[in-house]
Amino acid sequence: MERNLLLWLPGALGFLAFIYGCQTIAREMSPGEMLYRAKCSSCHNIIEASRYEKEEWCLYIDEHGEKMTDEEKRMVLGYLAETD
Ligand code: HEC
Repeated sequence: MERNLLLWLPGALGFLAFIYGCQTIAREMSPGEMLYRAKCSSCHNIIEASRYEKEEWCLYIDEHGEKMTDEEKRMVLGYLAETD
């Protein structure tokens, strides 16, 4: 019985660490960031949020996000501009 537990425990701890890790990743990525990564990386690489000011992002999102809804643009801008 005790022997069984010793075999079982490392696997269970590993599984818990895995679940915890996934939750941490999900919590760190906001909906705006997920949208940005999904919608803005099809033609070019992801550009660091700190590279441009809010006004510049606003223009780029308007020009490049023509297939996005206003709601989506607002979320992406929220993510890109909050790191100023
Ligand atoms: C339909 C294709 C396409 C999509 C989708 C797209 N872009 Fe672009 N983007 C381009 C092209 C073409 C350029 C100019 C070529 C280059 O320098 O990469 C560019 C360049 C840029 C640049 C300046 C270049 C640089 O390296 O700093 C920014 C900023 C940018 N895009 C932001 C965005 C954002 C934000 C989105 C999402 C809303 C987006 N793009 C989605 C085609 C696209």
